[in-house]
Amino acid sequence: VRILFLAMMLCALFTSLGEAQVQTPPSLMPLPAKMQPESGLLLIDSSFSVAVTGNHEARLDRAVEIFLGQLRLQTGMPPVVMKVKDSPIAALVIQSASGTKTVQELGEDESYQLDIAGRGARLTAPTTLGVMRGLQTFLQLVQTTAGGFAVPAISIEDSPRFPWRGLMIDSSRHFIPVDVIKRNLDGMAAVKLNVFHWHLSDNQGFRVESKKFPKLQEMGSDGLYYTQDQIRDVIAYARERGIRVVPEFDMPGHSTAWFVGYPELASGPGPYEIERQWGVFDPAMDPTREETYKFLDKFIAEMAGLFPDQFFHIGGDEVNGKQWDANPKIQAFMHGHGLKNDGDLQAYFNQRVQKIVSKHGKTMLGWDEILRPDLPNSIVIQSWRGPDSLAQAAKQGYRGLLSSGYYVDLMWPAARHYANDPMSGAAAQLTPEEQSRILGGEACMWAEYVSPENVDSRIWPRTAAIAERLWSPQDVRDLNSMYQRLEAESRRLDWLGLTHNSSYAPMLRRIAGTDDIAAVKVLGNVLEPVKDYTREETAPAPATSATPLNRMVDAARPESATARLFAESVDAFVAGHARPGTEAQVRSLLGAWRDNQVDLQARFESSMLLKEVAPLSQNLSALGTAGLAAMEYLDRGETAPVAWVSEQLALVEQARKPQAQLLLMIAPSIEKLIRASGGQTGAASLPPK
Ligand code: ACM
Repeated sequence: VRILFLAMMLCALFTSLGEAQVQTPPSLMPLPAKMQPESGLLLIDSSFSVAVTGNHEARLDRAVEIFLGQLRLQTGMPPVVMKVKDSPIAALVIQSASGTKTVQELGEDESYQLDIAGRGARLTAPTTLGVMRGLQTFLQLVQTTAGGFAVPAISIEDSPRFPWRGLMIDSSRHFIPVDVIKRNLDGMAAVKLNVFHWHLSDNQGFRVESKKFPKLQEMGSDGLYYTQDQIRDVIAYARERGIRVVPEFDMPGHSTAWFVGYPELASGPGPYEIERQWGVFDPAMDPTREETYKFLDKFIAEMAGLFPDQFFHIGGDEVNGKQWDANPKIQAFMHGHGLKNDGDLQAYFNQRVQKIVSKHGKTMLGWDEILRPDLPNSIVIQSWRGPDSLAQAAKQGYRGLLSSGYYVDLMWPAARHYANDPMSGAAAQLTPEEQSRILGGEACMWAEYVSPENVDSRIWPRTAAIAERLWSPQDVRDLNSMYQRLEAESRRLDWLGLTHNSSYAPMLRRIAGTDDIAAVKVLGNVLEPVKDYTREETAPAPATSATPLNRMVDAARPESATARLFAESVDAFVAGHARPGTEAQVRSLLGAWRDNQVDLQARFESSMLLKEVAPLSQNLSALGTAGLAAMEYLDRGETAPVAWVSEQLALVEQARKPQAQLLLMIAPSIEKLIRASGGQTGAASLPPK
């Protein structure tokens, strides 16, 4: 075994020496369509300057200002350096052929070419939008080198694969303040996302000021809503970053908050209160009363004026029909109009609403429930229940967006979102014309379990992987490369003020009740919140909008980097091709986990927030011990006794069960070590989902 191990080490050593000579590709995310690294570096010091030649528009000048601001943040330079120059002799020369539309349109050209040499850099693009995308690429290239900050010489030609690359944020379940929205717009721009889909109303809150119907926000929001000035400010902020803002007002379901002020819109008698729980609820608009459409006509007219984007999202998801079934007048209407079921009634409603949306100059967009052949082909379908509706819509002549597989509230690893391609499955079988109707996709941040404190950590960095799926060529799929670049981009997003990393330690300090969070961090770093909708299903009591989001499940990252890297090391070790040092690392982690419980247990009794993770800490300790013992067997070249193996596997089984709505993510790797020590190979089961 020792000789074998030595041989393995030598092999690994040669592999790594070989790789050192290959130039590592720059850490760009999304990866550009084409890039050619050259030799040399362009230094970025306080004399760095930008010149704009070619077409000029205010939006371009502002984009350059924003770029310089971010470059100063990233390099720690003061605001008096790094300037725009009038003369075309500058470190970075920008040339844009033409300006952009007054209101950003779907499909506007976002391509750019970036050429960097030691003497200077040149960014050329057909439009200001392309310049914005290229400037973000430039920022991602900035590195710390021995000679100072620098960007590597490179030649990049880039354009997006899909024209619609979005992030949806739900501001209803939990109100998301303007500053949080803005920093997330900065994050979106950094990874070249171009649509902010704003879910503005739901059962739990109506979040926009209406001047026509002020009881919407006065009675339906707990005072937590955006004024129209704030909305305009966010739209302007997004525009400066090349991002469209698409509002969603969910109807006819998901609409309780409307009915608090306007109960006559509903299909049941009321009165109504703002919903405090999560789930699907009965209240729905009454599609049979003309007054409903008069109201919506005025309301949509007002919102169509406030939100300049071409698209208007009417939701349309999850109508359970209970209020319709229970209302004799509605039943009589359905009978009189030949509407056989609730689906027919909703289709009737959608047709009426579509005419209103269209009358106010907008194109209707809705969740996949609205897909019915009786709507005009201009509408767009957002697929959330599965990818098939996207292909079905495309076949029937409708444009569509993929969100199924991009729900970041489900706490999936980035790799799983990354593998989800809008053109896979049934979409791969479509004709090119049908495929051209697939516009792209959107990550969705549903907000039942997010607060301003932790929402960034649910969106980032995983959404950057989704952004890459939607921008980069389809064959960009390498997971190692993705994770490396994701980590780098995650750290870079810190400069933009995103708090996905920085909020972690303060949340742990609150949980621990002390500033000494070393041990809490060791545990927290290997935990992930339970997946999919398990959090709802395993809640001791139903969560509501009044439930504090201050527990370990709210602080723990959706994807544990520690557990992912540990799994890689264990896999390599068990397969016999670990690099030198891997075994020592694995042992050191196992030892730290084994001993962590001793450090942590003293605090369990003094913090109620910490106490609930005590079983996880005990399991972590037990897994550390088991893993070390398994490594001993492996090192000695002995086969672990069958009884010992089954005892340890029982322990792993127990440690895999969710506790406090958290999963201990190293359990599957420990299982692999134990099985390997017992002479079982390839028998490890899948990680917990
Ligand atoms: C949805 O998740 N109900 C669109």
